[in-house]
Amino acid sequence: MESPTITVNGEATAVTDVAAHTTTLDWLRSRGLTGAKEGCAEGECGACSVLVARPGADTPTEWVAVNACLVPVAALDGQELVTSEGLGSCDSLHPVQREMAVRGGSQCGFCTPGFVCSMAAEYYRPGRDDFDLHALSGNLCRCTGYRPIKDAADALGTPADGDALAARTSSPPPAAVATRLSVDGAEFRRPTDLTEALGLLAENPEAQVVAGCTDFGVEVNIRGVRAPYVVAVDRLPELREFSFGDDEVVIGAGLTLSEIERMLEGRVPLLAEMFPQFASRLIRNGATIGGNLGTGSPIGDTPPALLALDASLVLSSLRGDRVVPLADYFTGYRTTLKEPGELIRAVRFPLPLSPVTAFHKIAKRRFDDISSVAVGFALDVVDGSVIRARIGLGGVAATPLRASATEAALVGRPWTEQTVREAAAVMAGEGTPMDDHRASASYRSAMLGQSLLRLHAANRQEAIA
Ligand SMILES: Cc1cc2nc3c(=O)[nH]c(=O)nc-3n(C[C@H](O)[C@H](O)[C@H](O)COP(=O)(O)OP(=O)(O)OC[C@H]3O[C@@H](n4cnc5c(N)ncnc54)[C@H](O)[C@@H]3O)c2cc1C
Ligand code: FES
Ligand code: FES
Repeated sequence: MESPTITVNGEATAVTDVAAHTTTLDWLRSRGLTGAKEGCAEGECGACSVLVARPGADTPTEWVAVNACLVPVAALDGQELVTSEGLGSCDSLHPVQREMAVRGGSQCGFCTPGFVCSMAAEYYRPGRDDFDLHALSGNLCRCTGYRPIKDAADALGTPADGDALAARTSSPPPAAVATRLSVDGAEFRRPTDLTEALGLLAENPEAQVVAGCTDFGVEVNIRGVRAPYVVAVDRLPELREFSFGDDEVVIGAGLTLSEIERMLEGRVPLLAEMFPQFASRLIRNGATIGGNLGTGSPIGDTPPALLALDASLVLSSLRGDRVVPLADYFTGYRTTLKEPGELIRAVRFPLPLSPVTAFHKIAKRRFDDISSVAVGFALDVVDGSVIRARIGLGGVAATPLRASATEAALVGRPWTEQTVREAAAVMAGEGTPMDDHRASASYRSAMLGQSLLRLHAANRQEAIA
């Protein structure tokens, strides 16, 4: 069995003496690459950010920043990684490092290598015009304050001719390789095709499936979960399909939120509204849509949006494929129809889209926070009447759910303030919200009703006629 090998800062490096759950951050630091720091170990601070070469949309390869604290090092087998040390040195600063230094973007310096890597990913983004500050949404700084960091980002020009990392984007990304790391009775497998993956799952029905590890990585780091057998599915080509046809959109379960956002190019406004509200750019670069549905969480952000889009899931196993409406998929708190040995292969939803859509996320912070309540709306209003309504809810029951009573209170009625006020009262009674540390049950109910009023205020009849 060969050791995984990762190209780190241009040098092929064997991954030895690691456990199956060892994170990329711990491995890098154990090798003396201590630029990347551990601030939180749960994807919240970005101090561990590093760059990974991934398939690009506009160029064959793109440099993508991810949280090294969440990604198991075995999952990067065969891949290329750049740390802050690989960007530049004290004698030869990278343009991003230079701007951070001269504009006072660093004081204690703990967060700086992470900021520098996130900033470098945006610096190398193909076709970049202005610097998109959302690229830094997953990086926290405790002492400098963000203005000098923004100044550094805004001062960046474009990569110079001959810049090695810019040149790297014009050739293909590293191919996915089959990984098998077996240590102390624990095994990490990364198959390269779906049949092999399904075979492994059939032989090991209790296997822990992982994709971006943005959810499972937190379990490993914070709750000490150790899975004896892990199957990584994020690079399976069969889980990375994407098509936008005449009557259907198909999104592979292994695509990340960032990839999907780029591929959709705003053609699904409901999802375009959701993406920026889903975690940070760093998390979205790792988090897959299959992983969001695979958790079975009642507070995931994609289910309310996908329920409103009338989505179905394609579940694959060695027995074949089956298509399950998302509305039937969730069976209880973190339980689903998915059987052992099955993978979510793709998400699909029908076209044409309803014209009145919105995604409302109510959370304590505007960005990078988990929902207290999330609502996806998709309404068809024709000649002043609602002829179809689909409303997906998250955070108000043990599962995501359709707001069926509210939908019934809207369909066939005029799209007027009176209808909406009556339906909002119905909506406030949907689900069985609970009190928890994020919000009280009564607040959640109030937010549901308020959400429909807000949708109407933004889409009055005169505006959509
Ligand atoms: C800091 C932080 C912020 C976050 N913010 C948000 C947020 O705003 N909104 C939100 O919804 N979530 C949020 N999350 C949760 C997480 O990022 C998402 O749920 C993400 O989509 C998980 O995808 P993943 O690929 O990383 O899943 P993983 O962690 O790899 O896997 C999660 C689960 O899904 C299963 N799974 C993965 N892929 C498949 C598949 N193809 N078929 C079957 N099962 C599969 C795995 O077995 C596992 O149980 C946040 C997480 C962190 C750490
Ligand atoms: S250490 Fe905080 S995001 Fe990784
Ligand atoms: S410079 Fe100290 S935390 Fe950012």
